[in-house]
Amino acid sequence: MLLVQLMRGAAVHAGNRSPHCIEPMVSWVWGPSAQPSGLRRAHFSSCADGDHPMVLITGGLGQLGVALAKLLRRRFGNNNVILSDIRKPPDHVYNSGPFIFSDILDFKNLREIVVNNNISWLVHYSAVLSAVGERNVTLAKEVNITGFHNILDIATEHSLRVFVPSTIGAFGPSSPRDPAPELCVQRPRTIYGVSKVHAELMGEYYHHRYGLDFRCLRYPGIISADSQPGGGTTDYAVQIFHSAVKTGQFECYLRGDTQLPMMYIDDCVRATVEFLEAPSDTLVSRTYNINAMNFSPEELTEQIQKVLPDLKVVYSVDPVRQAIADGWPKALDDSAARRDWGWKHEYELPELVQTMLTHVSQGAQLARAF
Ligand SMILES: NC(=O)c1ccc[n+]([C@@H]2O[C@H](COP(=O)([O-])OP(=O)(O)OC[C@H]3O[C@@H](n4cnc5c(N)ncnc54)[C@H](O)[C@@H]3O)[C@@H](O)[C@H]2O)c1
Repeated sequence: MLLVQLMRGAAVHAGNRSPHCIEPMVSWVWGPSAQPSGLRRAHFSSCADGDHPMVLITGGLGQLGVALAKLLRRRFGNNNVILSDIRKPPDHVYNSGPFIFSDILDFKNLREIVVNNNISWLVHYSAVLSAVGERNVTLAKEVNITGFHNILDIATEHSLRVFVPSTIGAFGPSSPRDPAPELCVQRPRTIYGVSKVHAELMGEYYHHRYGLDFRCLRYPGIISADSQPGGGTTDYAVQIFHSAVKTGQFECYLRGDTQLPMMYIDDCVRATVEFLEAPSDTLVSRTYNINAMNFSPEELTEQIQKVLPDLKVVYSVDPVRQAIADGWPKALDDSAARRDWGWKHEYELPELVQTMLTHVSQGAQLARAF
C-alpha cells in the first residue's frame, strides 16, 4: 500500500518536470550501433555539431559513477562511455556497458587507457571522501592529490575536457556559511577539503596556463537510493531512508539541527552533463557552486514521518563527523551557475522524500522476494 501511494506521487512529480530538462535527453539518445568505433573523431568540440565525446569515468563504481554513466550512455551510446575503478563491478554494472580496471595512481596505465580508447572527456570521480579521509590521511593524500595530478597531466597531454567534482567540504569554518558564495576564503580543516581546494586551484591554473578545458562543480551532499554512499559526512541522509523502510528506527550521527546543502542524484548527474556540454565561452568561471535544497536531520525526519509516522530517530553524535559538518556551509549560493549555463534543480525536499521512499521500498520488496 505504501509503495502504491508513493508511486502515484512520484508519477505526478515526473509529469511536472520542465521541458527544459526532458527535451535535450530525447533528442540525444543514440544507439551504440549508430557509432561504429572506426568513425570516432579524435577530439570532441561541442555537442551542437553532431559529434559526440568518448568518455572515461574514474572511480565509477562509487555512489555517483553508475548513475552518471547511465545518463551519458543514453545520450552518447553505450560503447562511448567507459566506467573504471579498482574494484570488481557487480554483474548488472559489468553487463550494462564497457568497464575497465584503472588505478589513478598508475600513470602509465591511465595514459594507455586514454590513448587506446580515444578518450575525449574524462570525468574524475575517484576520491577518498571526508570521514574516511580523516581516518586515513595518507591514503586521502595519495588518491586525492597524487592521483589528481596524474589526471591533470594526462588531460593536458591529450587535450581532454576534464570534469572534477569539488564539494561543500572545500569551504571551512572561516568561510561565510549561509550561503557560501562562489568566491570567498577557503580554509577547510579536513584533508578531503584541502585536497578539493587544491584540485580547484590546480585545474584553474592549468586552464589559464595551458588552455586545459577544466570544469569543476562544488556538489552538495548527494542522495541516492540505488548506490550506497562512500564515507562522507552527509551519508546519514541516505541511510535514514533504508532504516525507515526496513526497521522504522534510525540512529543519526549528526545533531538534529545540523543544516547542510543537499541534492537528489538525478539533479546531480543532469547538472554534470549540462555543465560538461556547456559551450566554453559561456563559462565565466571554471568552478561553480550548485545546490538544490538545505535541511537538517530533524527537518528530513519530519518530512519522512509524513509518510511513515512511526519512524523513530535517536541522536548519537559522532564528534568527528559533527566537527566536519559544523565547518561546512548551511547553504550554497549557486546563482552564477543558474545565470551562466542555465542550472535549475528539480527536486525539493518533498519530492526527494517521495522518490527515495518509492525506490527504497521497491528494493526492499524485491530483496524479500528472493
Ligand atoms: N557523494 C557525494 O555526496 C559527493 C558530494 C560532493 C562531492 N563528491 C565527489 O564526487 C566524486 C564521486 O563521489 P562518490 O560519492 O561516488 O565517491 P565514492 O567514495 O562512493 O566512490 C569513489 C570511488 O573511487 C574509487 N577509488 C578509490 N581509490 C581509487 C584509485 N586509486 N583508483 C581508481 N579508483 C579509486 C573507489 O573504489 C570508489 O568506487 C568524488 O570526487 C567526491 O569527492 C561526492
